[in-house]
Amino acid sequence: MTVYFNGEFVDKDDVSISPDDRGFVFGDGVYEVMRADRGQFFRMDAHVRRLRRSLREIRLDGVDLEALRGAVEQLLPRNGLDDRRAKVYLQITRGAAPRRHAFPPPSTEPTVYARASVNEPPTEKWEQGVKVILRPDQRWARCDIKSLNYLPNVLANQAAMEADAYEAVFVREGFVTEGSHSSVLAVFDGTVCAHPLTNRLLPSITRDAVLSLCRDLDIPVEETPVPAADLPEADELMVLGTTTGVMPVVQVEDWAVGDGTPGAVTRELQAAFHASEPA
Ligand code: PDD
Repeated sequence: MTVYFNGEFVDKDDVSISPDDRGFVFGDGVYEVMRADRGQFFRMDAHVRRLRRSLREIRLDGVDLEALRGAVEQLLPRNGLDDRRAKVYLQITRGAAPRRHAFPPPSTEPTVYARASVNEPPTEKWEQGVKVILRPDQRWARCDIKSLNYLPNVLANQAAMEADAYEAVFVREGFVTEGSHSSVLAVFDGTVCAHPLTNRLLPSITRDAVLSLCRDLDIPVEETPVPAADLPEADELMVLGTTTGVMPVVQVEDWAVGDGTPGAVTRELQAAFHASEPA
């Protein structure tokens, strides 16, 4: 596998990252996950914009994002992925320097890494819908930054796997925020309800795409936090994300959502979303 590492394309086995890397020591960095179909990236501009914002918010500069975008695009042909569904994982850390909490000397180069792999769409789950569990949101107060600090997400997602569920949905102060690696939409009486974009959740690119489809399809949208206590009355529920797509949720913990099958609004959005993907 050919990966991009600090300005060069190299074999993945030849990458070596210092144990002093601040990503390793502190989780001091940010990441992105992008998706492509037959060489065409889905909303690449939005991913680059979000990455730029994440870097700015953690005060990490010195990365040429236009060059990085070109490198990410090249990863597909270099790995024989330009005629397939692919995903790219990209990570930038504050570089390697002797451990201290404050920023390293300004001469420290950021560590930049990106790899492409096949993206197998979860077609069967899209069809049947999935189960989710609810978990207290114990994350920090800057969930809008796509930072490497995902320990609460890891623990919650592991709990989901152990409960035979696809995803863990976080609840903070009684309100649904998002999933461990996805965003969440609920449907009440035909209206799609989404948590407004605040510091409590990631500005998900799939969420943005689906909410604009709602506007195109005349599906009413309310950007308001959903109380977890109201979830049993939701007609439909879905989780969204770059690797998740538009995923119907048919079960929460041990109870069924709606009639226990993917609902009509979810189906409509799923179809429109998949039709809008790059050809
Ligand atoms: N996760 N919320 C969280 C906490 C996420 O980690 C993600 C994506 C999303 C959905 O965002 P988007 O639609 O931009 O992919 C929401 C990526 C895919 C991951 O960690 O693998």
